[in-house]
Amino acid sequence: MKNVPAIVVHGGAWDVSRELVGPNKTGISHAAIAGIEVLKAEGNALDAVEAAIRILEDDDSFNAGIGSVLTLDGHIEMDAAIMDGKTLKAGAVGSVSNVRHPISLARKIAEETIHVFLVGKGADDFARAVCAQEVCSFGELVVERRKKLWEDINERMGDKLVDGYLKAQVELLDKYPLLKNVPLDTVGAVAIDKNGDIAAGTSTGGMPMKLSGRIGDSPLIGCGTYADNDSGGVSATGHGESIIKTTLAKTTCDLIERGHNAQKAADVAIDFLWTKIGGKGGVIVIDKNGNVGLSYNTTKMPRAWMNTEMSTPEVTI
Ligand code: GLY
Repeated sequence: MKNVPAIVVHGGAWDVSRELVGPNKTGISHAAIAGIEVLKAEGNALDAVEAAIRILEDDDSFNAGIGSVLTLDGHIEMDAAIMDGKTLKAGAVGSVSNVRHPISLARKIAEETIHVFLVGKGADDFARAVCAQEVCSFGELVVERRKKLWEDINERMGDKLVDGYLKAQVELLDKYPLLKNVPLDTVGAVAIDKNGDIAAGTSTGGMPMKLSGRIGDSPLIGCGTYADNDSGGVSATGHGESIIKTTLAKTTCDLIERGHNAQKAADVAIDFLWTKIGGKGGVIVIDKNGNVGLSYNTTKMPRAWMNTEMSTPEVTI
């Protein structure tokens, strides 16, 4: 069967605020086009996923790379993973704070080390060693609206956030409907190339006001990210703790192995996320036959898909 190379990208599952609708649409459209350009130029699925996610990490309207949310103690700790469905080679980083493109660092781990997952200081040191030109400071990653949200929350919640974090988190959700609507605007991409090889990647600043050291679903293989040519590729977004508990990306691929196409698998997986655990989020999927699927149970999920026969991406928010 002829494979039509294709890419699908997402910009997170949440209630996108009005002023970010336009920038988010533009961002995911650019990311899909960047991925398709790579696929047209005979790049492989991994190259396309990395290229698309780099665009989203550079776009400060998303919570990944520049524009990442702040932790409880006011820092940036980013997570990312990329996986090759042909070889099951995977690379992931957790809690990195000094690199512009965590997705490229994750790919370097997959391709230049014997490991899968580096976190914290080790990941930051690895970044300095293998991609010094991409190393950056906190000041280059942080944007004004994230700083303002952090300052505002701290002013209102004060010491409560430190003393009794769990209780304070509940109060925080009540006071900030924006947070309640899952502000987990992770970014992700899944691609299939002309050889039928599939890749998936996900990158995020994680949950706003998270405890330092908290790692979400995005870099965990099988949770936020998974790819296997025998089933498909998945990037998940939404409430990380729920996605981890349901190993959502691998669960979606397992549904494909059991005979569902990409859309059906995506729908069943999101239904499972909700009915099993009350989790909110979304998945983008490409199955081994090249079908694209998208499903979410949040208010919005900016998303775009495109194949090499289309002149423009289909963009929805
Ligand atoms: N889904 C992104 C996170 O929870 O970190």
